[in-house]
Amino acid sequence: MLIADIETPALVIDLEKLELNLKRAAEYVRRHGLRLRPHTKTHKIVALARRQLAFGADGLTVAKVGEAEVMLRAAPLEILVAYPVIGQGKLDRLMRVARKTRVTVALDTFEAARQLSEFAHQAGMRIGVLAEADVGFGRMGTKPQYVRPLAEEILRLPGVTFEGIAFFPGHILEIGEESRQALNRLSALIGEILADLGRAGIEARIVSGGSTPTLYYSHLVRGLNEIRPGTYLFNDRNTLNCKACRLDECAVSVLTTVVSTSGEDHIIVDGGSKAFSSDLPVGLPEVSYGLVLGEPDTLFYKVNEEHGYLAVRDGGRKFTVGEKLQIIPNHVCPAVNLYDMVYGVHSGRVEEVWKVDARGKLQ
Ligand SMILES: Cc1ncc(COP(=O)(O)O)c(C=O)c1O
Repeated sequence: MLIADIETPALVIDLEKLELNLKRAAEYVRRHGLRLRPHTKTHKIVALARRQLAFGADGLTVAKVGEAEVMLRAAPLEILVAYPVIGQGKLDRLMRVARKTRVTVALDTFEAARQLSEFAHQAGMRIGVLAEADVGFGRMGTKPQYVRPLAEEILRLPGVTFEGIAFFPGHILEIGEESRQALNRLSALIGEILADLGRAGIEARIVSGGSTPTLYYSHLVRGLNEIRPGTYLFNDRNTLNCKACRLDECAVSVLTTVVSTSGEDHIIVDGGSKAFSSDLPVGLPEVSYGLVLGEPDTLFYKVNEEHGYLAVRDGGRKFTVGEKLQIIPNHVCPAVNLYDMVYGVHSGRVEEVWKVDARGKLQ
């Protein structure tokens, strides 16, 4: 099948770029002696998780127990659930996952640690735990000074093993001068947390961080020995906006068809919020929903569910109904979750079609 034969809207992955992205990360972690547990929430596809493992990933990361259940099919040696697992239903399911592979959970409260401990103890298992610190993103994570008390509590509890710390540097985007300083501050902060643990005689065997924008700077963060990038294998428009990749390293695009040219100053493509999500770009003042490849004069300025609005500049080229446009989504992770299938393409041909195995696994 040719790309032109794919029904639109469709999420398309350039296989050559995908391979290069995986290879680059694999070489980087090998060079710097870092562990890699890629976050599979980006692709949600078992075949791609297998490919990440083949490219030297030590294990996989997920956000949800449902994703962990699916990713077992990739036969990882270990799964990190980088999200607290709360409540009986999810904890029972987590114990079943843990019978099949080594499981670690990142959490940031005593309560989450106690619940995990209770279920693991009852099930006669030991689950690894990472104490999550907030290093500036302001989402999850205990304050750095509370990491030690959390670690001490985890060490007291049965059924769980304190393995180290986790953090997500989502506040560090473009690595310019300002972000370099943020990176230095992050490094100092991690150093302080580790020193505090050290003073209490606690060893953090794993120091897990790493997002896609900071991926190739991970070796500059003191003590960091594991990274969990997700987006790096595709590189979306936000990665590009963060200058964390080049345009020719973006492997993902949404293939759309022009369905209307009746508007005076815009055309409509057949992908709206149900094909791209509504995520706005990071680092750009404009409202836009994706980057239209090869069309610098168009701005993807509005979405309805099934309609994508592309503003066409006065005097710009004329579009025709039926023509195909490739658009790089701002944020690929929620976009993937909108599709049943993803197409892997090479030299104009579809070479692989993947089911989005963990689509909708919210629980
Ligand atoms: C906890 C955690 N780890 C890792 C990642 C992967 O980061 P990125 O998408 O920048 O690769 C995310 C993404 O949101 C995350 O929430």
